[in-house]
Amino acid sequence: MTADVAYPKRPYLGAVPFLKAMANRGLRIAATADLHYAKHSRGKMQEAFAEMSSNADVLLLCGDLTEYGLPEEAEELAADIRSAVKIPCIGVIGNHDYESGHPETVADILDQTGVTMLNGEAVEIAGVGFAGICGFGGGFGRRMLNAWGEPLIKQFVQESISHAIRLEQALVKLQTERRVVVLHYSPIRATLEGEDPEIFAFLGSSRLEEPINRFRATAVFHGHAHNGITDGKTSMGIPVYNVSAPVLHRTGKPYRIVEL
Ligand SMILES: [Fe+2]
Ligand SMILES: [Fe+2]
Repeated sequence: MTADVAYPKRPYLGAVPFLKAMANRGLRIAATADLHYAKHSRGKMQEAFAEMSSNADVLLLCGDLTEYGLPEEAEELAADIRSAVKIPCIGVIGNHDYESGHPETVADILDQTGVTMLNGEAVEIAGVGFAGICGFGGGFGRRMLNAWGEPLIKQFVQESISHAIRLEQALVKLQTERRVVVLHYSPIRATLEGEDPEIFAFLGSSRLEEPINRFRATAVFHGHAHNGITDGKTSMGIPVYNVSAPVLHRTGKPYRIVEL
């Protein structure tokens, strides 16, 4: 553990049984994304939150938690979290949470509910490190957008680079053996299969993949790709899970549990 790593604001509920249960197995991570809570969404994820709390040790919320980034939407989600989530919860915001211009208000409301919202920071739970940030678009591989030409294109690319740097700054703080990356945007192209190719460049960027590979992350969770596929790998073979609820819902529950 390092001194400058942020820790969950919410203590474990029933920490002793949790630690006993962990003795012979890995950490069970429940993950979901793209909940898109609106003004009257209360109850939408309550059952799923209760199931995840019973079957997993940690819950990840990978962005687009609200529809328009409104405080009242975040309050609806906060109410469901308060009533049904009984395990430590980590979140990042998504592009929809920016829509009304106050993503920090959405993050604050969830933070006050006990969710550890990460924005280029890291947190450690039961010996597993989590580094999180929203991420940004820009495209993939050789076709990735470069900082060239108009100032607005350069600004777009700079935003993408900035998210990658902040992810790196979060990862560098973690000295745990297992390191999990929590994103909204995808770091690879593979999990976007099924989306219109015209929007691939707006769904993620290879710039996020570079620190993930370099720091040998254990696994990556992202959302944003509502029509993508669930599983991919980075160029170094690190598993990438698209946990966008609409994708997962097609074949089952609106969440996934992975044991690390
Ligand atoms: Fe979404
Ligand atoms: Fe999104």
